[in-house]
Amino acid sequence: MKISIISSSTRKGRISHRIALALKSALAERGLEVQLVDLLEVKLAPFEERLARIENPEPRFVELEKQLNSTDAFIFVSPEYNGAIASGLKNFIDFYAKGPFMHKAIGVATGSTGSMGGIRAAYQLQQNILTIHGFPHPQMLTVAKMDQTIAEDGTIVDERTAASFDKFLELFLAFATKLRS
Ligand SMILES: Cc1cc2nc3c(=O)[nH]c(=O)nc-3n(C[C@H](O)[C@H](O)[C@H](O)COP(=O)(O)O)c2cc1C
Repeated sequence: MKISIISSSTRKGRISHRIALALKSALAERGLEVQLVDLLEVKLAPFEERLARIENPEPRFVELEKQLNSTDAFIFVSPEYNGAIASGLKNFIDFYAKGPFMHKAIGVATGSTGSMGGIRAAYQLQQNILTIHGFPHPQMLTVAKMDQTIAEDGTIVDERTAASFDKFLELFLAFATKLRS
């Protein structure tokens, strides 16, 4: 099973990317094929039109679409900005949806440096996923104090945070596997 992680913070000194790095190594450890799509590298312009409706799209965007199409399940990682998901993630969803996401399991992972772990963004993301005909898993990963609980290289340095990653992955992977079959 191939899983793509979408890391959506493009902010200088971003911290939520650590969640994406931690997920990437946890999935690789479990023997899964994992692709990390870093929106900082994708560099989408502000939304003008959906990829499917652009006459001569940039080949790199078409290539990424192929990669997304060949993905069995996604995990969307977002910080919470003013009670919402990162605008870059919404832009990415609007640009590529619905094709690559339809009828696939999509995990929600949010983080903040505060104690709520981006829960408002997480619930919002569940709604967005339903709208693009994906299946959001009910168990969301919300990482509080992510600057203190995950090191820069993605190493989880807090026991409770490590346990929440394990629980999320166990349930999400069971769901994604069932949905795929
Ligand atoms: C524009 C902006 C808005 C923010 N809004 C929230 C918020 O609504 N809730 C929250 O818990 N933290 C909020 N924060 C603090 C973030 O949790 C913290 O800056 C975090 O590091 C952002 O993720 P990133 O480093 O991956 O960009 C906000 C930060 C920024 C820059």
